[in-house]
Amino acid sequence: MTTRDEAAREAAALSEQLHKHAHLYYVLDAPELPDAEYDRMFQRLQALEAEYPELRRADSPTQRVGGKVLDGFVKVRHRVPMLSIRTETDITPDGASAFDARVRKELGLAEDGPQVEYVCELKFDGLAMNLRYENGVLVQAATRGDGEVGEEVTQNIRTVREIPLRLNGKAPPVVEVRGEIYMKRADFDALNERQREKIAAGQKNEKVFVNPRNAAAGAVRQLDPAIAAARPLSFFAYGLGEVTPASEGGPDFPTQFEWLQQFDAWGFPVAKQTARATGAIELIAFHENIGRQRDALPYDIDGVVYKVDSIELQRRLGFVSREPRWAVAHKYPAQEQITEVLGIEVQVGRTGKLTPVAKLAPVFVGGVTVTNATLHNEDEARRKDVRVGDKVIVRRAGDVIPEVVGVVPESLARPDSERGPLFTMPHQCPVCGSEALREEGEVDYRCTGGLFCAAQRKEAILHFAARRAVDIDGLGDKLVEQLVDANLIRILPDLYRLGFTTLAGLDRMAEKSARNLVDALEASKKTTLPRFLFGLGIRHVGESTAKDLAKHFGKLDAIMDANEEQLLEVNDVGPVVAQSLRTFFDQPHNREVVEQLRACGLTWEEGEPAARAPKPLAGLTFVITGTLPTLSRDEAKDKLEAAGAKVAGSVSKKTSYLVAGEEAGSKLDKAREIGVNVIDEAHMLEILANGVPG
Ligand code: IVH
Repeated sequence: MTTRDEAAREAAALSEQLHKHAHLYYVLDAPELPDAEYDRMFQRLQALEAEYPELRRADSPTQRVGGKVLDGFVKVRHRVPMLSIRTETDITPDGASAFDARVRKELGLAEDGPQVEYVCELKFDGLAMNLRYENGVLVQAATRGDGEVGEEVTQNIRTVREIPLRLNGKAPPVVEVRGEIYMKRADFDALNERQREKIAAGQKNEKVFVNPRNAAAGAVRQLDPAIAAARPLSFFAYGLGEVTPASEGGPDFPTQFEWLQQFDAWGFPVAKQTARATGAIELIAFHENIGRQRDALPYDIDGVVYKVDSIELQRRLGFVSREPRWAVAHKYPAQEQITEVLGIEVQVGRTGKLTPVAKLAPVFVGGVTVTNATLHNEDEARRKDVRVGDKVIVRRAGDVIPEVVGVVPESLARPDSERGPLFTMPHQCPVCGSEALREEGEVDYRCTGGLFCAAQRKEAILHFAARRAVDIDGLGDKLVEQLVDANLIRILPDLYRLGFTTLAGLDRMAEKSARNLVDALEASKKTTLPRFLFGLGIRHVGESTAKDLAKHFGKLDAIMDANEEQLLEVNDVGPVVAQSLRTFFDQPHNREVVEQLRACGLTWEEGEPAARAPKPLAGLTFVITGTLPTLSRDEAKDKLEAAGAKVAGSVSKKTSYLVAGEEAGSKLDKAREIGVNVIDEAHMLEILANGVPG
């Protein structure tokens, strides 16, 4: 039980925090807390004020709805106030029943009376906008502001392609369409990628956005429309503001659903999930159905909205303070939460990739309890400046691995001496102790242990046994798991030392299967050089590279001993592949594995080295930028370099060609400025196949 004094102290502290965070959120577009945390504090304050009404001061954050107007924009008084919406905090299906029950009670409907008709919409996570059309032409766009007075952002909104500048079909003298401005996740990710490039290029005033809503709000309130235009915004219509009355020839629809259809006909996006529902049961079904689709939607929603469909019933229900009684937002579990970093560990993936992982104080986010969140790679961990002891925002959406979005400013603000050290990736694999390397142009460190590393062993064995490698029939993942876990295979050659007795002694292993596997192992010993080489699982050495290497060198020893320069002579082998081969064969334990496999009886026919490959693009310099349609940048680089071209990181007068893909940024601008040839991937492939024209 809280005493009155304790309650007063807690309420005052909450008030102060909420004021501060409301300002950060509404006025500065720079929220520092996840919504769920803000909501939690808000609800706690409401609860305290309900228990001790004398604590409810006129300036309490609970007594104000909405934000404040930012200086720098012209203020607009909304002709029809922009309301807020009541949030149903019970995220279980009961939340929908509670709303239906309230509506029925207000309407005086008996328990066995008729069901209420509703419209179910998505609750988009963006910012509300009022769009005013006079005689069908967009004349003004305004933010919600505090609901009474908003900001005029017409210029910026005119750049949003999804918003019609002129209504389709017959338009009334005046109509205000309301809806949500938001940013799609993919657009948000691409925007942040460009922001990171700008920051990397030294542009100090640029920042990375925390979430799509924050980025959308920033774009809308950007004072420079040119910058706003470069930030891709989207829109969904869901409501009506002022409209010419029917008596003066304006449109008149008896239901919300028909209004939405009219918005659609005028040319606005209306979410296709929008549906009519009868009674609580159908509201619940909608909530559950959308809940399942939530993660597959290309944009964020934080819940659904139920609205009484009949406009007549809406009028009868009216409002409580600034919230209509005829609508409610029914939320889903928050996808972002705050928690503390207890440690940072490095995990080794099945392919040898090292990933920094934050160990977290358990937190319920996106519907599950999370204790680990990825920091992706060394650069990301350092850029986000995540340290042990920090409070961080964790995001988990759908089945995606939870990630650390960022550190809360309070933690960032602590003096460096009071924070843990900045993360650095170990240069040794934490599992096998082999050297961990980060290749040039790569973001990831990788363990060079290969077949020697326990973290990679299962995967390595399966790869070696694959049909396209040495082909060990019947060696599936369950069995490999069993063999590795029982410590029967520590290195690849141990496979060939498994006798019939050992195999037959395994759990769930029938004698016949054991016999078959022994035969399959025996049969796999007679193989080919490309299959063997591919089976070793050397990074970047796929089937076709293995074939090219075998053809070029003829003998395994020649490949193992070739230096990078000699490797580069092989068709389709560029520096990335050459370096990977060198790294692999420079590790004594990898050579040992090869020797032991030979000693176990693996054989193949060896041949004579082939003639040298031509270098048709020698002397040319290429730069690659953006996302290419079919090749990764590394693959494109390898192909170019294999043909003798040089691939550089930045555009200069010496650049022969810039290969530009989607989302090409500053390099493309630079190339155009200094007159470098810009080509696409198809054109590059054409040059690789047929050489430079002319
Ligand atoms: S209707 C009558 N419908 O939620 C109530 N609002 O707190 C007026 N929102 O500011 C709002 N999706 O930014 C409505 N389908 C939807 C919505 C929606 C998102 C936002 C809107 C508003 C806030 C209400």
